[in-house]
Formats: sequence, structure tokens, C-alpha cells
Amino acid sequence: MSEDAMSHDETARDAMTFPFPPGPHGGPPDAYADRRSACPLAPVVLPSGDEVLLATAYDDVRAVLGDQRFSRNLRYAGAPRMLPAADFSDDPHALVNMDPPEHTRLRRIVQAAFTPRRAENRRTRIQAVADELLAEMRAGGPPADLMTAFAFPLPIDIICDLLGVPTRDSPLFRGWSDMFLSTNTAAAPERAKAGAEFAAYVDDLVAARRSAPGEDLLDELISAHDEDDRLSEVELARIVRGLIIAGHETTGNVIGRGVLALLRHPDQLAALREDPALLPSAVEEILRTEVPGHGGLLRVATDALSLPSGGAVGRGQGVLAPVVAANYDSEHFPDPETFDVRRADNKHIAFGHGPHFCLGANLARVELQVAIGSVIREFPGLGLVGGAQELTWISGSRVCCVSRLPVSW
Ligand code: HEM
Repeated sequence: MSEDAMSHDETARDAMTFPFPPGPHGGPPDAYADRRSACPLAPVVLPSGDEVLLATAYDDVRAVLGDQRFSRNLRYAGAPRMLPAADFSDDPHALVNMDPPEHTRLRRIVQAAFTPRRAENRRTRIQAVADELLAEMRAGGPPADLMTAFAFPLPIDIICDLLGVPTRDSPLFRGWSDMFLSTNTAAAPERAKAGAEFAAYVDDLVAARRSAPGEDLLDELISAHDEDDRLSEVELARIVRGLIIAGHETTGNVIGRGVLALLRHPDQLAALREDPALLPSAVEEILRTEVPGHGGLLRVATDALSLPSGGAVGRGQGVLAPVVAANYDSEHFPDPETFDVRRADNKHIAFGHGPHFCLGANLARVELQVAIGSVIREFPGLGLVGGAQELTWISGSRVCCVSRLPVSW
């Protein structure tokens, strides 16, 4: 092969390698929009080396997430996989890796704890934690890193409080979570070690609570049942682990990215300060634009089918359906690149769609409303230290986020 031909091949392969580099300010990769207009269902190569299809149109993404002919069982020989080494998709007992009817059964047992009313009932507690964290941040004086002072501690505290897990252990969760979400293939041994430590921690926690019951979600899950059905020991441990990770990682990043989005759009921030009734729609716009990473795990088609855009999927073929790509589809969101806290009819799918729709969506919404509302109310002079261009975006992970968000006031 000539050098020219080789570099052309390599360039073509780079253009297909997933995950794509994020766009400016951690926005969706430009490749999503290019593909959506040229070929909304087209191949990509994953870090494992496996080739799968990438859906970039809203209707296709929604169809993949909602159609039960797409399975989360990636555990058979030859199944497409994100990483070459072990990752969380290998765990048959994790809720997010299950298909109906097992998934339906487990979801039915746990979802009573995550209704809109239960989330709303926690608003006062969430506000108290937010007030305390922001008071500490203020007392420390500017500048402060909003991620470590507020964005992560808030959802970690809330999920610990909800479950009845000691908040003092939260630094451990952050470390385990970073490992879990890493797509860096070199980190495989560290990921396995972190997984084992986390599993042992949760097993000890459940055992301790069985012998000395309390009144938290952990106790509720221990005794949770649907008619005569109960969570098995292994299911309980996986649910608790899943809630600790899912309960803080994404929310913390969306809080940080949401504050950054407002600071980058002073007119929108001013509109929100002027009319606090815009907070719910501002949070929905933040959800549309600021989900870190791509959102939406790899699925495999159990049947040959075609998607709304007309793209064909073969039986056994892997499909990635990033909610972030869907949320920027101009067919559904006029001027998708415009950050608009008044956006009407915002049918984003930041929390997914279908059977795996985010279990914590109601809680996350309340947390985001409290977090964003409190930051802008308490710090009228909030500003970035340095420009947005100087922020470091973390890559090599399933999430795309800033490592630090230095602010002053
Ligand atoms: C802004 C914050 C959040 C966002 C954007 C988000 C997004 C998502 C998305 C897109 C999915 C579906 C993934 C897929 O189908 O491949 C999901 C599932 C899930 N989320 Fe969230 N999430 C957030 C916060 C939370 C919180 C606070 C909790 C727990 C308290 C949580 C628990 C879960 C669980 C357990 C699942 C798996 C559900 C299932 O498989 O049935 N999430 N989330």
C-alpha cells in the first residue's frame, strides 16, 4: 500500500472511531450533525475494535432506546462490546444490563422509591444541603472550584442520605466511579480492582444494615417486594452500587456544566435572574444541552429491522443511540445550537426513553432545580476565573466534563 493510501485509510478510520472528540465547550461532536444530514445510521469503530452502527437522528435514537427488539445483553460470545476488557456491561445482575421480563420485574420492585412525589418530598433536604455547601464555599473565599465545592458533593450527599450510606465515604465513591466510567483501555486492571473494592464495600454495608436495620432506602430495598417477589442478595447489592454511581456522577456533571452554560450565555443568565419562574424550563434546556458524554448505552438488535430514517439494522448488529445526538436534531429542536432558557416544547431525551428510562429522573430534576437556582441566587456576581476557553475537558471517559470549574464572586 502506498503511503498516501495508508494515510487516507487511517484518516477514514479516525473519522469513524468512537467516541468522537467533543465539540467546543464539551458540546456534541461536530460529526453527529454531519452524519445526521448525510447518513443518520452509519458505522463507527468502538475502543474494543468492534464495528457498530451509530444513530444520530432523534426518531432513530428514540426508536433504538424504546424498541424491545434492542437488547442490553452483550454477554454472549461474539457480542459487540464497548471495551476490549471487562466493563460494567458484563454484569448480568445490573438493572441497566437486563432485558424484559427480568428487567421489568426488578424495576417494579425498586421504582416505588423514585416517584415524582418522593423526589418532591426531598426538596427541603436538598435545599438544606445546597445552602450548607454554598455557605462553606463562600466562607472559603473566592476563587473556588465549583465542581469539588458544590456540583459533586450535593448529589453525593443526597444519594448517601437517601440510601443511608455514610457521606464521609463519598471520596471513595468518586474514585470508584471515575474508574467505572473510564473508556481508557489501559485502565482495565485498575477498573477491575476498583470494582472489587466497591463490591466489598456495598456487601459489608448491606450485611451491617441487615443486623441493625434503619429507615432509609437501603432498608426499604432490603424489605422491598412486589407481591411475593423480593430482591435477591446479588440483585440488592447491584442496585445499591448502581444507585451510588448513577445517583451522583451524571447529576454532578450536569450541575457544573449547567452553571457554565449560564455563565457562557450572560443574556440567558440575566433572563433567569430577572424571572426565577423560568427555572424549570432553564433546567430542561440544561438537560437538553449539557448531558456529559453521549448518554445511551450500546444495544444489540435481536431481529433485523429498519429505523424511522430508513436505515437497516441486521440481526445481531450493535447500535449506539446517543441521547446527546438526538437532543440536537433540528427536526425536533429549532436552532438546536442556541441555548434558550425559554425553549418551549422541549422534548429532550436526556433521561433516555423506553424500559431503561432513568430511574432517578424525578430526583435529578429536583436536585438540578435546587442547585442551579441556589447558585445564581446566592452569588449574584458569579463569574469564571479565566475564560471558558481555558477550562480543561476530561476525555477517555464515558462522560465529558470539566476537571475544574474555577469561579469567583
Ligand atoms: C442529570 C442527571 C441524570 C441523567 C442525565 C441521567 C441519564 C440517564 C440515562 C440516559 C439513562 C438510560 C441509559 C440507557 O438507556 O442506555 C439512565 C438510566 C438510569 N439512571 Fe439516570 N441520569 C441522571 C441521574 C440519575 C440519578 C440521580 C439516579 C439515581 C438516583 C439515576 C439512576 C439511573 C438508573 C438506576 C438507570 C438504569 C435504569 C434501568 O436500566 O432501568 N440516574 N440515566
